[in-house]
Amino acid sequence: MANFINKYSISSAAMITPNTIEQIKNRLDIIDVVGEFVKLKKRGSNYLGNCPFHNEKTPSFTVSPAKELYKCFGCGKSGNTITFVMEHEKVSYVDALRWLATRYNIEIEETQVSDQQKQQMQVADSLYVINNFAGKFFEDQLFNSEEGINIALSYLKERGFREEIIKKFQIGYNPQQRDALTKALLSNQFNRELLPRTGLVVVRNETDLQDNYRGRIIFPIHNNSGKIIGFGARVIGKAEKAPKYINTPENELYVKSKILYGSFFARMAIDKQDECLLVEGYTDVVSLHQAGIENVVASGGTSLTVDQLRLVKKYTNNLTIIYDGDSAGVKAALRGLDMALEEGLNVRLVLIPDNEDPDSYVNKVGKEAFQKFIKENKKDFIIFQLEVMLKDAGNDLNQKNILVNHVAETISKINKAEDFIKQQEYIKQCSALLKIDEGGLITLVNKLKRDKIAKDEKKQSTPNNHFNDYQEPPPPADEEINYLASQDEKHERNVLRVLLDYGLNEYKDSQTTIAEYIFKELQDFPFESPELESLLASYKIQYEAGLNPTTKTFLYHEDPKTRELVISITLFPYELSSNWDKLYEGKKITTIDNSIVDVTMSVNYYKLKKLKKMFDQNQADMEKASIDDQMLLIRIHKELKDIEREITKNLGTVIIK
Ligand code: CTP
Ligand code: MN
Repeated sequence: MANFINKYSISSAAMITPNTIEQIKNRLDIIDVVGEFVKLKKRGSNYLGNCPFHNEKTPSFTVSPAKELYKCFGCGKSGNTITFVMEHEKVSYVDALRWLATRYNIEIEETQVSDQQKQQMQVADSLYVINNFAGKFFEDQLFNSEEGINIALSYLKERGFREEIIKKFQIGYNPQQRDALTKALLSNQFNRELLPRTGLVVVRNETDLQDNYRGRIIFPIHNNSGKIIGFGARVIGKAEKAPKYINTPENELYVKSKILYGSFFARMAIDKQDECLLVEGYTDVVSLHQAGIENVVASGGTSLTVDQLRLVKKYTNNLTIIYDGDSAGVKAALRGLDMALEEGLNVRLVLIPDNEDPDSYVNKVGKEAFQKFIKENKKDFIIFQLEVMLKDAGNDLNQKNILVNHVAETISKINKAEDFIKQQEYIKQCSALLKIDEGGLITLVNKLKRDKIAKDEKKQSTPNNHFNDYQEPPPPADEEINYLASQDEKHERNVLRVLLDYGLNEYKDSQTTIAEYIFKELQDFPFESPELESLLASYKIQYEAGLNPTTKTFLYHEDPKTRELVISITLFPYELSSNWDKLYEGKKITTIDNSIVDVTMSVNYYKLKKLKKMFDQNQADMEKASIDDQMLLIRIHKELKDIEREITKNLGTVIIK
């Protein structure tokens, strides 16, 4: 066993060599790889198919073999061959490389990583090996020891769990004896120092090791590739003196905020049904699976974290939370939910009636009735929250006032441009429920959005810039532009995306390229983010050296940070793009028109944003300035206004005409 651990650790502490990565990249054929999953038809120099990332009937998923990129004009997803494999197969960068290497029969060469990294990986690997051993030990105890069968297996069966589901989830049993597992681990030469880190073993009286989960049923917790990263250990029967569950302590593998119990078993079903059910407990997940409802994961009863929501979002945008009616759990659930809105998830909530939880309820009523209940009772989270609070408020006007503000606050958190319609819909429904004027609620939501933007900006600015009571300038066109113009880094990113994508194209019918146009326009408006500024600089150097840089050049950049930055820029295009349809209703635009519109708008929005900052700064200076200086500042203000008008005019012609 010791030997095995060593071998195991060394092989996975290795990294794929740059040489191999180069070979893989040279062999990549995007049409071949994407074509394996998507039926593609040739259209001009590109290929077209139905997007694998969202549902569509008319194809808008475009693959460019020349650029080695794909882009869906429906949902906006885009990337290169490697990111396609990552997204489609839901694997990491390294695993995507391995996948491609296998496909092209390229032998993978690996090198060692730094000692410290290696050590960390070795610890993680060793923890995996220990967990795996313990998991097997627990299973064996449950099914093959007298104590396990009589005490634990019988308890599980009494609760209605059948053997096949117990085996699927690798549920086990840790005997009552004080060191049954510890002994087995030690006699298999596992590193004594490392054992306590797994939480399986505790140190008593400084040196004495003993089992931590004695006499408990063990639920292993798996990562998304099915390896055991930790355990939940439940007492048998009622928890009287001891806590009901003991869970693995945080370690190299077990990071609670990133784990959803059951995700390994649920991900296919979540993907297929485009919905993720979220319950509280281990037993809820197992029982629902047993009943044939497999798109379910558990949060462990705490409020949801952003990382957990992102995990869900990898597979679906639809999250349905199923909790028992007891208020503690519901409150915990509600706490995480504003974040879910910011992540763009559609969150629905169902409460299980009569003191049941999903586990007991599905056992009582069966699969069909359970599903029917969920379907008929799931309520949109915002509406749900509102109804609960309305009931509490009764006729109290003061309470109702607080409530209106609260609802507006929640709705204002829906801030993705593509969720605009959703927001409108909420405003309509909520104002009806609250019996207030729809226009009033809209105004309030918009005010909160502006407040938030101002607050964020204040956070970014230096402490002696006080421009709180500053009212000017009125937003250029409408609310939407004002909002878009507020999103600093996004504009910088978008300008860069356009530069990388279209820089080499001609700008309008003039003699310059889009790249030159951008360089010129940005002269007086430098980026604030140093990493974006350095990407821009590096593009400029290559461009001016006549190297014709493109997105691809940077996607394969030797520096992984640059690579990631470029992937994130190209993979998550600016939200504006999703508005093209709205802005261009009924008009046909070719790709090149599109790119020019894109670049003009991006640059102008970006400049608007910068201008707004200058106004603010100007105003702040004004308060401290002498009379003479004030005159100067007023002139600057006027000039800024002129520039703003010019930009707004540009934007206007681009947007409306
Ligand atoms: N939990 C925990 N520690 C506790 C109690 C609960 O970590 N002391 C977590 C567990 O993940 C548990 C979940 O909260 O699964 C929900 O708790 P609860 O509803 O009490 O447990 P169930 O999973 O429903 O277990 P059972 O059905 O066996 O009562
Ligand atoms: Mn339960």
